[in-house]
Amino acid sequence: MTKTVQSAPQIATSTLREALPNQDAGFLWDFWYPALRSSEIKGQKLAKAVLLEVPLVLGRTLEGRTFAMRDACPHRGIPLSYGRFDGQAVECSYHGWKFDACTGRCLEIPSLASQDKLRVDRIFAGHYPCTEHDGYIWVYMTAPGSRAPENVPEAPRLPVFSEKYKITRLSCELPSHVDQGIIGLMDPAHGPFVHQSWYWRSRRSIHEKEKRFEPIPNGFRMSRHEPSSNSAPYKLLRYFSGEATTTMIDFVLPNMRLEEIRSGHLWFSSRATVTPVRRDLCRIDFVAAWNLVRWMPLVVPVFRSFAEKFLRQDQETMIKQAEGLKYNPHLMLIDDADRPAKWYFALKANLLESRATGAPMVHPMPGPVTLHWRS
Ligand code: FES
Ligand SMILES: [Fe+2]
Repeated sequence: MTKTVQSAPQIATSTLREALPNQDAGFLWDFWYPALRSSEIKGQKLAKAVLLEVPLVLGRTLEGRTFAMRDACPHRGIPLSYGRFDGQAVECSYHGWKFDACTGRCLEIPSLASQDKLRVDRIFAGHYPCTEHDGYIWVYMTAPGSRAPENVPEAPRLPVFSEKYKITRLSCELPSHVDQGIIGLMDPAHGPFVHQSWYWRSRRSIHEKEKRFEPIPNGFRMSRHEPSSNSAPYKLLRYFSGEATTTMIDFVLPNMRLEEIRSGHLWFSSRATVTPVRRDLCRIDFVAAWNLVRWMPLVVPVFRSFAEKFLRQDQETMIKQAEGLKYNPHLMLIDDADRPAKWYFALKANLLESRATGAPMVHPMPGPVTLHWRS
């Protein structure tokens, strides 16, 4: 028996609803997340990524616009990434439905006969706002079941401070929930144990530190200061510029750590984002830019290998930590070394609260504070 659609305006066929992803995985929706490196989308090839447990198919149109669709055909769910892309529309590999890549709007259903009244243009494949900069494809992950707002905020940009600069990118996967990845990123006390090396610091170099923090919108800032004397890279900058070196570190929801180092005319700017892939997997994307122009040929490989080693040390630690977390142990956060982690959890909770109630978000920090720890 064939089913005919009676009324054109309503799509009476949409009874097979796709199950919404579990909304309680501790993800922050309605933010931009980096899905892929720009270099991973070549020509008219479709690429795949998973963000917040949502499978995505991404690509670039003939005009160079990037797009992100839910990697599931709204007809019967086969991943659209198996389909064909002609530079403008994605054609599903199962029954050939065609979707405009940027809007998700259905353009064609080849099986429809001449008397069919189904309004093809009222059918949409899931799609998300998508943009490209800093060498990444960014996707604005709207909450399951909701639409992207009219005015999507701008995607984050790495701050740079001169026209000419060098940029490098690294990434690494962590087998943990995004929260663990983030508090690992802002944790000052693991340095002397996890990142021991002759050029950075050793266990014996542990000393008491005092750092001032201040609230910023959706996050907190370690106020500008002269960084710890035992860190060789900072010393190096001071050596090249002949001037004092200062640094400032921001954490901003949902997942971003920004560091800005200045030394005379020299600057170094970096961003690490921790992006949830699944509830048990996240990825750190690290991008750094600097204007040590004269020393460039030397600096790039040296810096990359330092940074790679750092990330690997964090990754190895978190692989071990995941082993322990599997059994749901009781955990604790202590003052002051874990205070930034507490702020992160409070920021997240207060943001969700304000979204639920519509009341303005309460910042967990009443004002600037000074923290003390040894590292
Ligand atoms: S499943 Fe995609 S067209 Fe049928
Ligand atoms: Fe680390």
